[in-house]
Amino acid sequence: MATPDIDIAGFDLLNVPADYIADPYRYFAALRRQAPLHRNPDGTLVLTRYADCVAAYRDPAIWSSDKRADFAPKFGRDAPLYEHHTTSVVFIDPPDHTRIRKLFQYAFTRKALAAFEPRITALVDGYLDEFAERGEMEVVGDFSFKLPIEVVCDMLGVPAADRLLIRDWALAILTALEPKLTPDQLATGNAAVTEFKAYLRDLLKHRRAHPDQAQPTEVLTVLADAEDDGQRLSELELLHSCIFMLNAGHETSTNMLSHGIHEMLRHPDQIRRLRDDAAVIEPMVEEVLRFQAPIQINNRRALVDTEIAGVPLPAGTSAHMIVAAANRDPAQFPDPDRFDIARRPNRHLSFGLGVHICAGNALARLEGVIAFARIFDRFAGMELVAPAKIANRLRFREVEELRVATR
Ligand code: HEM
Repeated sequence: MATPDIDIAGFDLLNVPADYIADPYRYFAALRRQAPLHRNPDGTLVLTRYADCVAAYRDPAIWSSDKRADFAPKFGRDAPLYEHHTTSVVFIDPPDHTRIRKLFQYAFTRKALAAFEPRITALVDGYLDEFAERGEMEVVGDFSFKLPIEVVCDMLGVPAADRLLIRDWALAILTALEPKLTPDQLATGNAAVTEFKAYLRDLLKHRRAHPDQAQPTEVLTVLADAEDDGQRLSELELLHSCIFMLNAGHETSTNMLSHGIHEMLRHPDQIRRLRDDAAVIEPMVEEVLRFQAPIQINNRRALVDTEIAGVPLPAGTSAHMIVAAANRDPAQFPDPDRFDIARRPNRHLSFGLGVHICAGNALARLEGVIAFARIFDRFAGMELVAPAKIANRLRFREVEELRVATR
């Protein structure tokens, strides 16, 4: 049965209603039907249709990822957060974007990822052994946070002892991308960038002094070599790209894993389906990503006068592309609010699209495939102990706490 529409006249992404976090999808459906090119009260554009988001992703010459105009008033030009979020690969345009992205593309080749498979499997099995022994776990802390951070830190070359530090810095830096910030969040975010930079500078110094301790394929080493040749990467680009990779590489995957476990437990028929047909695991990962996009919103700014769906938009228009809404657009996905692990085709936008499409998408998918396959194969009688706690964040759909038990 169709959900009744909410009246979205005056909807403000910077001041969402109290029940938004519990179910943002009702608001997205109403926006898509009533005002697919909604003007937020601050003048920004809110896109909720699949085709409109795709149009903006596809044309970086018109729709820029450069965030200097947005972040100067938000952070202040001298702020560490401004420096980070305007220097890292995701928020710059070609040709600089192309130059930087090329440098770490090698880390995500099929061959490089195949080498990670046994490590991911061993990590997953280790966490699941603990779950089997205790009979219960808090999924976020005991599982879905641990796996991606180990993997991305291995990939970059961050020593095992330092990995917990990264979590707090990442949370603080990524939280600063939320549409609205408290002074406290701003201060914590700025401190996190400063500390993270200092940490990476020390680590690089150590690596250069002890080249024998580095793996030749570590991203940190490869990027440092590119900086050393003086042409391909500046020091700031090096530091901020590493910070970005470390942040992007775990926060989002953590949420994919938590949401996947949560949605499956909320849909036990889908667990049975997966147990009956293990081959459905890859579409299952795609469905989790579609259904609960870990990054719900991406942004672009029009460099020139343009249009979307025939609506003229002047240069300077700032657009929120609500990926999570596009992923539930009935024009693209039949019965979009149904969680269907065998859904095909499933061209969701959770990894973005176009030149900035997630560089780590194959790694994230591999983590999802291994983790979900092993959990649901091993624990037939897993159940929710309490409703999941969802964080009060808009850009990232974050599970804060998820308690499960096994019979
Ligand atoms: C489920 C997990 C993940 C999700 C949902 C996700 C989502 C995204 C999205 C939506 C973008 C594009 C942003 C834009 O166009 O503005 C992006 C970019 C990026 N992601 Fe991911 N990501 C995930 C995992 C990872 C992992 C594991 C890594 C690395 C280890 C990674 C590294 C990157 C990088 C480097 C970019 C920037 C690409 C560029 O600007 O060219 N991501 N990600």
